[in-house]
Amino acid sequence: MQFVVEYLLKAKEIAENNANVPAELRDNLQKALDIACGLDGYLEQMSSQESEPLAELYRKSISHDWNKVHEDGKTLFRLPVTCITGQVEGQVLKMLVHMSKAKRVLEIGMFTGYGALSMAEALPENGQLIACELEPYLKDFAQPIFDKSPHGKKITVRTGPAMDTLKELAAMGEQFDMVFIDADKHNYINYYKFLLDHNLLRIDGVICVDNTLFKGRVYLKDSADDFGKALQDFNQFVTNDPRVEQVIIPLRDGLTIIRRVPYIPQLKSTVTYDEVFRGVQGKQVLDRLRLDGKVAYVTGAGQGIGRAFAHALGEAGAKVAIIDMDKGKAEIVAHELTLKGISSMAVSADISKPEDVQKMIDDIVSKWGTIHIACNNAGINKNSASEDTSLKEWDQTFNVNLRGTFMCCQAAGHVMLKQGYGKIINTASMASLIVPHPQKQLSYNTSKAGVVKLTQTLGTEWIDRGIRVNCISPGIVDTPLIHSESLEPLVQRWLSDIPAGRLAQVTDLQAAVVYLASDASDYMTGHNLVIEGGQSLW
Ligand SMILES: NC(=O)c1ccc[n+]([C@@H]2O[C@H](COP(=O)([O-])OP(=O)(O)OC[C@H]3O[C@@H](n4cnc5c(N)ncnc54)[C@H](O)[C@@H]3O)[C@@H](O)[C@H]2O)c1
Ligand SMILES: C[S@@+](CC[C@H](N)C(=O)[O-])C[C@H]1O[C@@H](n2cnc3c(N)ncnc32)[C@H](O)[C@@H]1O
Repeated sequence: MQFVVEYLLKAKEIAENNANVPAELRDNLQKALDIACGLDGYLEQMSSQESEPLAELYRKSISHDWNKVHEDGKTLFRLPVTCITGQVEGQVLKMLVHMSKAKRVLEIGMFTGYGALSMAEALPENGQLIACELEPYLKDFAQPIFDKSPHGKKITVRTGPAMDTLKELAAMGEQFDMVFIDADKHNYINYYKFLLDHNLLRIDGVICVDNTLFKGRVYLKDSADDFGKALQDFNQFVTNDPRVEQVIIPLRDGLTIIRRVPYIPQLKSTVTYDEVFRGVQGKQVLDRLRLDGKVAYVTGAGQGIGRAFAHALGEAGAKVAIIDMDKGKAEIVAHELTLKGISSMAVSADISKPEDVQKMIDDIVSKWGTIHIACNNAGINKNSASEDTSLKEWDQTFNVNLRGTFMCCQAAGHVMLKQGYGKIINTASMASLIVPHPQKQLSYNTSKAGVVKLTQTLGTEWIDRGIRVNCISPGIVDTPLIHSESLEPLVQRWLSDIPAGRLAQVTDLQAAVVYLASDASDYMTGHNLVIEGGQSLW
């Protein structure tokens, strides 16, 4: 835009010095000038403001005497400060890292690190950004400011010609989710080819390329200089490349966003173009675990394992009803999900009561129209020596753990059988397989063995009507359930029985429930998925 402004200013000056220019032409010139001049400032005001470390980086970069640095022989080239990625472009890059959920980013051409730090701010805690920079002076300049930012530790600067670094990264089999090319223009095409030819960019990964409009010289006839020509060739090469799709955004000097797409050469290919190659329904394996548009419920979701299941199903895309007999806890977990942008509802129900079970199913169906995923997880654990186990304890345990689970399966099953689709996941226990000791829990062990048989029976009876029924058997999980007065003192003792050397955390179980809830597990039914750190094998 700066170049348009310069031409307009020149035209205005000519118009003002020429009495024959009509007032209307002058007015229109002024309007065009106002629009062009106002754009950058407006974009800066209306875009998110930069963090303090970025602002400091910017201030230091523009006030530094780059000419002197070069004259003193500290840089190979005279670095123009105008090449810095500013607030708006930095925010665009940051957004793209967020939106593509990138974990590994490569930058080619770092200057003082404004773009690098902007992108690093959007990376997850364990994210990594490698910045290639020719000038060692710039690494020393940027590092103290990176060190002041909590995100600076994600950045590693590799000095030297970027192509050498790319070769080293390729030799190590590295791959990136996003690449920002912003170095020497005549090498853009070489960087781009190398990235794609050597698999340095993952499928669906994104390359952003700066300055691809190059002051309009890429499309103005006969005005391309060396750099303009290099960028013209680059843009044309990308346009002809079937391995990518791309768009040029007229931001600053032009920003091209390129996505790598799966590419299957037509000619005499050795590729077997089947579902293994292209994914079931075109979805790659992680996408097949997604639960977008699905309606789920989890019983006993007010805390512990159920809460973790509810979060996991919601993170995978499902709407989740939080069921618990403790209404307050259900509401808190539903609120947690809402904060994460997951649709949820809290339902208070005691699953040992048939009327509560039916009401909870009706509430969900009346709000969300159906149920696809039923996670029957609520359970209780009571301890007594078998010779002393009262019928009251036996009945209480069975009423929740087995009768309650059966009632939930049946009520959800009625909805699922009607629609010919459903995933039921019951929570059993490792106690269905082994007799955990030294605690005495006859009624618990027996009820959980019953949950496995219930799961196997329903799993085989209903599979031809589209319903899969499986169960998860956790080992000893660090939840309030095991911190009861009678169980708490046994924790140290249990640890010596667990090959993994630790108790399970609720997060150890989350991927399993998502897998069983997803279409990726469609061939699995009546299965008892044991997750116990190897305890049942010792
Ligand atoms: N924690 C473990 O070590 C462990 C191991 C294997 C299996 N399990 C099983 O996992 C499931 C969850 O266990 P947890 O450790 O998260 O338990 P927890 O006690 O921490 O949480 C259970 C939740 O279920 C709710 N609940 C209890 N009875 C209910 C009922 N009748 N109706 C509705 N809600 C009810 C409680 O209010 C509570 O919020 C249980 O079935 C349990 O048997 C737990
Ligand atoms: C436009 S600036 C980069 C701006 C930067 N992306 C930012 O966020 O401010 C270009 C940088 O590329 C570097 N560079 C030029 N040629 C290079 C090469 N062959 N290898 C690595 N870096 C190079 C320059 O030293 C300069 O710092």
